[in-house]
Amino acid sequence: MERFAIRGQICYSENQKTIRTIEHGYVVCEDGKSIGVFETLPEKWSGIPCHDYGDRLIIPGLIDLHVHAPQYPFRGLGMDQELIDWLNTHTFPEEEKYQDLEYAKKAYTIFLDDLLHSATTRACVFGTCHPDATLWLMEQMEVAGLAGYVGKVNMDRNSPEGLCEESAKASAEATENWILAAKNLSNVRPILTPRFIPTCSDELMELLSGLQKQYDLPMQSHLSENLSEIDWVKELQPKASCYGDAYRIHGLFGGDCPTIMAHCVYSGEEEIRMMKEQGVFIAHCPESNANLSSGIAPARKYMELGMQMGLGTDVAAGSSISLFRAMAMAIQCSKLRWRLVDQNQAPLTVEEVFYLATKGGGAFFGKAGSLEEGYEFDAVVIDDQKIRNARPLSVRERLERLIYLDGDARVEAKYIKGKQVI
Ligand code: GUN
Ligand code: FE
Repeated sequence: MERFAIRGQICYSENQKTIRTIEHGYVVCEDGKSIGVFETLPEKWSGIPCHDYGDRLIIPGLIDLHVHAPQYPFRGLGMDQELIDWLNTHTFPEEEKYQDLEYAKKAYTIFLDDLLHSATTRACVFGTCHPDATLWLMEQMEVAGLAGYVGKVNMDRNSPEGLCEESAKASAEATENWILAAKNLSNVRPILTPRFIPTCSDELMELLSGLQKQYDLPMQSHLSENLSEIDWVKELQPKASCYGDAYRIHGLFGGDCPTIMAHCVYSGEEEIRMMKEQGVFIAHCPESNANLSSGIAPARKYMELGMQMGLGTDVAAGSSISLFRAMAMAIQCSKLRWRLVDQNQAPLTVEEVFYLATKGGGAFFGKAGSLEEGYEFDAVVIDDQKIRNARPLSVRERLERLIYLDGDARVEAKYIKGKQVI
């Protein structure tokens, strides 16, 4: 049995309303899991190795429920269009390049290095439709010690020639081979990733549904992000009662198929009811929704309804892989929504967005996103000394400030499932 402790200025989310802080507290790890947070180290463990991080902040690893690894090279570029034009002008031409494994390796190396040095410990990642590049990304992500799900994207219609898979059958076959090739990985698992309804034929969705059942896989996709996209889905799938129903009719919308849907900016009552009933996770991506002028998702409403929800950076529609940035944007966008759209939906609080970035998204992984007993030991040690201040701040204030000023902080150490990865 392997046991050790880390010590520092501890900060984690107990629930949507409460952040708990413990000054110079201890988190004890046993076989990759936390066995508790303590003010003083219990006597029975007095002899275990303990790394004292002094005045550094210790928080649970942050969870990114939605990020596109191949889009990292053009983050911060081309933000002047809405979704469909942005996909055609910026995204698809970049993703075509991942046909070339050498380019993919170069680009994914940079993405993974930045992800490793960020406060993110677990991520749900979109690759491209290319199996070799996606498998390489997964293997390297695992080698780096990161955890999460990665998807080979499926797209067999309404896509440029260089990116469109040959047929539904070819797409499903490549997906099955990729699932089998990934079987030896343990911390980075495959997730079915039909890009979104406009690029996936009914035949392809049916074949993916078969693979979902056969291999018992989760799935991730996009939902109700942009108004033209929603109109297009209505045309493409007239049988569906709403956008979400276009996934549900193929058995790919929660229930026995653990599902993450990014955005949900315009989900109506029926779609919301279906998501809640089926336990579909919402990846709230406020920066992306602002950059592509998509809108502002009603995150307050989703919280009040007790929906499953976490945050996504959605790089490159979101420009930063920082979940602190996503937290700040979630608060800021909720304020604009409250002021301009619906005065009954109060802005999100620091407690709430910290919950979303940790326990909220972490629930997709079982017990992740907290330092409490029984959770996976995913912890991040942050040096915020460069953010200078004339007066002393409480641990809670230092976390709050970090949400807005994270660019000036540095991740000093990171643990995932009890293993130190930096
Ligand atoms: N919908 C389909 N593909 C994408 C994508 O790559 N990014 C975003 N934000 N939405 C999408
Ligand atoms: Fe996305």
